Amino acid sequence: MPRVSVGSSSVEAPPGQSVLESLLRAGVWMPSSCNQGTCGTCKVTVLSGSVDHRDSPLETLPAEQRDAGLALACQSHPTCDVEVTPAGPTSARAGEARTHPLRDLTATITGIEDVARDTRKVLLALPEPLAFSAGQCVELEVPRTGERRQFSLANTATEDRVLELHVRLVEGGAATERWLFADAACGDEVRVTGPLGDFRAPEPEADDGGPMVLLGGGTGLAPLLGIVRTALERHPDREAVLYHGVRHAADLYDRERLVDLENRFAGFRFVPVLSREETRAYRTGYVTEAFLADVSSARGWTGWLCGSPALFESGAAAFKRRRMAPRLIHREKFTAAP
Ligand code: FES
Repeated sequence: MPRVSVGSSSVEAPPGQSVLESLLRAGVWMPSSCNQGTCGTCKVTVLSGSVDHRDSPLETLPAEQRDAGLALACQSHPTCDVEVTPAGPTSARAGEARTHPLRDLTATITGIEDVARDTRKVLLALPEPLAFSAGQCVELEVPRTGERRQFSLANTATEDRVLELHVRLVEGGAATERWLFADAACGDEVRVTGPLGDFRAPEPEADDGGPMVLLGGGTGLAPLLGIVRTALERHPDREAVLYHGVRHAADLYDRERLVDLENRFAGFRFVPVLSREETRAYRTGYVTEAFLADVSSARGWTGWLCGSPALFESGAAAFKRRRMAPRLIHREKFTAAP
């Protein structure tokens, strides 16, 4: 069986597993995000040996990069013993840091609830606890299709027996319109693989209780809920503000839960923002504008972004304008799983 090596770690790569999957299943950390070949976060340099690029998209890994020895760890499979190193700036920790091992579990749907227009909350009970960090995601196998889709967890790490997913309807989507918004029902079994992704709450020892701001668009709220609840439970006096951007008031959800958090934690504030509806009941415009209007300096704050590519870019620019250090900006480009 070929082996995959990165830094001081070396793991077996069973047949059918990508370079990334074999590392994550062994609990070896590597930078990654989409697990679908689209984001490029997992790009590696092949130092020795060779890989089969399989379905690596040319848009993410152009031919000249393949020729230069680069590969997408989430798509490529080793053809012999292979040594890789991440091509991105986070390479220092790869192969040295541990992560929650990637696992396969069969979950049971225990809740499906309409919480806003075209938005459902789906609860999945696990047969045993799953170790993950708040903010990470899981991959579901879509029944009858063989396709897989990623959904962020809204849970904190201690809520490890029932996973909470927020799902937005995508017209024609195999996982949404044709499954979770169609015939999925409580009692159904679902194949779950996880945890995945590097968008996660910091480890306790790296969390100094400093102020934080979170900007989420639509169901991008889910991982932010896990992260902010983790942060507040750790440091109940910390300052934290969460902006939730949606188009219309009918798209808002979980307001009661967030107001309850405001009542429990004096330093927490929740700000819903509508971009396509004028009303006196809520702030209007974009979440980044609301943040810029409210905060004159975010120096020393940490920032969390989860939303559309536009929010991803404009949010990071707004954070930097308010003097947040780039290393303190965490972001997840989020497109609703179809
Ligand atoms: Fe996104 Fe591999 S391309 S994780």
